[in-house]
Amino acid sequence: PKVTYTDHTGESRIVEANVGDSVMETAVRSGVPGIVAECGGSLSCATCHVYVDEAGLASLPPRAEMEDEMLWGTAEDRRDNSRLSCQLRVTDGCDLRVTTPATQV
Ligand code: FES
Repeated sequence: PKVTYTDHTGESRIVEANVGDSVMETAVRSGVPGIVAECGGSLSCATCHVYVDEAGLASLPPRAEMEDEMLWGTAEDRRDNSRLSCQLRVTDGCDLRVTTPATQV
């Protein structure tokens, strides 16, 4: 599986991901900029906010209530395709594309 991270300037990084890891963990492990993940994935910081592309969005389980609530506290405005990347699991064969906001803090 892989995850493509595009930053707000349009620069993309394609990262080989491990099944079961989160999209946030994959970014942090690979030094992808733009994901702060202050709380380390415990759903309390909203600094792992990403915008997911349409195809990816359809393949993901919907937001849990807590994730949805946290998305009201992001640094950059939430959109319909906003997700917290610590809640997105890499699955076998997935090819997720996400865009990171200009700022997470
Ligand atoms: Fe803190 Fe995702 S890492 S909410």
